[in-house]
Parts: sequence; structure tokens; C-alpha cells
Amino acid sequence: MSDAASTPDSLVTPLAKAAAVPVPAADELAGRFPLVPNAHPATEAERAQALTDLHFGKVFSDHMTHARWTRGEGWGSQETVAFGDISLSPAAAVLHYGQEVFEGIKAYRHADGSIWTFRPRYNAARLNVSARRLALPELPEEDFIASLVDLVRADQEWVPSGDGESLYLRPYMFASEAFLGVHAGGVVDYYVIASPSGAYFTHGLQPISIWVAQDFHRAGRGGTGFAKTGGNYASSLLPQQQAAEQGCDQVCFLDDVTEKNLEELGGMNIMVVDADGTVRTPHLTGTILEGNTRSAIIRLLQDEGRKVVEDTISLEGLLADIESGKVTEVFACGTAAVVVPLGHLKGEGFDVTISGQEVTHQIHDRLTGIQYGRYEDPYDWMYRLV
Ligand code: COI
Repeated sequence: MSDAASTPDSLVTPLAKAAAVPVPAADELAGRFPLVPNAHPATEAERAQALTDLHFGKVFSDHMTHARWTRGEGWGSQETVAFGDISLSPAAAVLHYGQEVFEGIKAYRHADGSIWTFRPRYNAARLNVSARRLALPELPEEDFIASLVDLVRADQEWVPSGDGESLYLRPYMFASEAFLGVHAGGVVDYYVIASPSGAYFTHGLQPISIWVAQDFHRAGRGGTGFAKTGGNYASSLLPQQQAAEQGCDQVCFLDDVTEKNLEELGGMNIMVVDADGTVRTPHLTGTILEGNTRSAIIRLLQDEGRKVVEDTISLEGLLADIESGKVTEVFACGTAAVVVPLGHLKGEGFDVTISGQEVTHQIHDRLTGIQYGRYEDPYDWMYRLV
């Protein structure tokens, strides 16, 4: 079964199509970022300690991959080197105007010790969608995947094997040219760093609580909402702090035009399960990040025979539907967070509890089953790195 086959057209986006293009085997891509080994890697004991009690994004492996682009010359000098501080001019454009894009993708250890990643072409294609919006150079998709192959092969001992653990890979690209004029940088650096990680939310699959921001929006029409760029996350931090002050785990944003409709959370997409089994998720209006996990879940739910629709989901309607029992579950999804139920939806003047979790748990099991090799992968989503 091919990835894009049999899904209704409206939900087969260009990124979903890109993800379905076969990738050459890792052995063919390996070596594009030649390894210069870290002279002082962590000792076995240090690594074992670092892999104990994993949280999200706190420890880093021994190496990182790097490439530099210069205007007129293109990409050059690709390498895998020791993880460490980078040297940047205080005038580097990224520090002033935020010309940066990034990705998030994981390496999963299967029971037989092999290491896999999930739909890497999706992230490769999305990095380039983001790069175009931020006037950054595109990285050839197979170089993107090769950078993951070389890094994970260098640091394979850093891929954890505990329940729900993975090596979180963070590819990113930024303008490093030193200048203060507002124009696209002529020197750009691309890196991938790797962080052995556990659950994004410390309480794992426990329901999270959401604060709906009403004074702030994540993105506006014609802006950068669909791109994975630091600015979108920077602007979510103050509302995220307000969410925390309200005792909530995450912030949820409404659209900037009507200020009524759900868009996404601070760092993940949102899905609503109706009592009749239909699953709804906000339309990709250009202000929402098109998540790889969102896309895969849509496909999995459809193949279970569920109706999945992109919809305009108003906060008012959602609150009424939770109250009446028309909506039984709401969940968040993303690479880092995977799939997590929403237990509370809170905002100015409301605080509702959502108790259902059945579909959320099913889809979590189905998705992670494929990612960790517990279930067959009929979509060819998994790509063997090692
Ligand atoms: C991811 O899910 O990979 C992201 O980049 C989102 C961020 C909240 C960690």
C-alpha cells in the first residue's frame, strides 16, 4: 500500500505526497557527511548515566552534522563533527532578524537493535517549504536524510531503548552572515543535533490541561505560521507562560481573523473526536504547521474506517459539544509529544473537563506500534538508519 493511496484528495497534501517518494537505502546515502570523530566522547558510564531517567531535549549525543551554504557557491563542506559550542559573529543575521528554520524527527530503536526513523522525506520537504518562506536555501532532500543517517550511525549508542524513548533529532538552518542590513543572509549554516529523549510531557500519556489564549495569536494570514521557524515558537512563549500561571501544560491559539476558531497548540496540532466516531482537525489555513504526526494519524484513522475531516472548529462550538457529549475526546499530536489526551480546556470564563481517551489511546498505540516496530508498517513509513 503506498502512503498517498486511497486517502481523499483534500487530505493528500504536497507534503504527504513528498513523504511517499521512496528513499535510497541508508547505505547509499551514508558518508555524505563524513565523520571527524569526537576526540573526547562521553565514556560508557557517562552515557549510561545520561540515558537514565530521560526527559525531553536535555542531554545531547557526542556528534552533530554540519553543512554551510554560501551565495553563489551553494552547499559545501558537509561533515559530522564533535557536538560542541559553535562560534558565531555577534552580528550574525539570525541573532537580529531570526532568519532560521528547523525540524523535529526521531530515531527509534527496535527490539532487534536496529534503528529507524519515520517518514524522513516529509520532514525534508517541510524544511524546504519553511526555508523558502524564510528566504533560506533549500537543502536537497537526500542530503537532509543523509545528515540523519551519518549522525545516527556515529551516535547509535545514544539511541535509547526504554518505553517511549527515542533519539530526538533536531535539524536546523540559520543565516550566519555578519551584517545588519535587513536582507537574506549570504552564508547559511545547517546543523543536526541529537538528544536522547523520553516523553515530552513529564506525566507521559496522562491527560494535559490547555489554556486557550485570547489576547495573543500564534500567526497571522500571510505570515509564517505554516513554516517551522523559531519566531512562531518565540511568540508562543509569553502565552505559554500565562498558560503555566493558570496551572496548564500548554497554550492553545485561536485564529487571528475571527478570534473564534481553534488553530494549534504551542508546539503540536489538535484533533477532536465526536461521539459518532468522526475525527476533526482544523483546516490548514496557512497559519498552522502541517505536522507529520497529524498527517500520519489522518491516514491511520481513515484506514480504520473512521471519517476524518478538516473543519472550522470554533471554541464556542467545542465547549458546547463537550458539554452536550457530542465531543468525547480531544487530543494533541506532534513529533515530540506523539499523541496525548487533553483533559482540561480552560480560558477566560470557562474550565471544562474532557474525560474520554479511548480513540486517543488507540491511535497512540497504532502509531507508536509502527514507529517502534511492534506492528507491521504497511505504508513503508519507517526508514532504516542502522
Ligand atoms: C516537534 O514536535 O518536534 C517540535 O518541534 C515541537 C516542539 C514543541 C518540540
